[in-house]
Amino acid sequence: MTEPASARIVVLISGSGSNLQALLDATTDPAYGARVVAVGADRDGIAGLDRAVAAGVPTFVAPLKAYDSREDWDRALTAQVAEHRPDLIISAGFLKLVGPQFLAAFGDRYLNTHNTLLPAFPGIHGPRDALAYGVKITGATLFFVDAGMDTGPIVAQVAVPVLDDDDEESLTERIKSAERRQLVEQVGRLVRNGWTITGRKVTIP
Ligand code: GRF
Repeated sequence: MTEPASARIVVLISGSGSNLQALLDATTDPAYGARVVAVGADRDGIAGLDRAVAAGVPTFVAPLKAYDSREDWDRALTAQVAEHRPDLIISAGFLKLVGPQFLAAFGDRYLNTHNTLLPAFPGIHGPRDALAYGVKITGATLFFVDAGMDTGPIVAQVAVPVLDDDDEESLTERIKSAERRQLVEQVGRLVRNGWTITGRKVTIP
């Protein structure tokens, strides 16, 4: 019997890797249509790298400060990712903005998941900013990365209520559970059906 086509995914992380874990779990089913072929990070010693090793997935680390310039780092990261011939690259809590080399190579297939409903509250403190603003609904946004910060064309969004007694941690965790479900569902749709990006509009047939 022939195996169904399986897309090659590289996941980039900077932290705990719970979104990565959701992808590692989903991709154990061959019917999902993709496998994680490598996990890259911008720092050592993070739980997400241990998750990759436990799943038998190759890892690489490209710390920004190991390079003379941001351009050199961008070039090195691009080369390390390219070695794994990815069909899709997913930033799952990767805390660095990639540069022009990376976007030239992977711009139409580099996804990021963000923990607010964009365009509200971009940046690394999304849930904290949403709470401080007093919004009643926030959520998570999956989008294709462009040269801006959290500005690229949106694939999907999921709404999450803000509760009266939320603090940053409780809200962040509630968002993350919805975010992981969305990531697994939408990445599956993307790899099985393909996608087109027309201006800001992403279509999955
Ligand atoms: C996610 O909520 C993502 O939106 C944010 O960082 C978190 C990563 O969590 N940028 P994890 O490392 O996948 O657990």
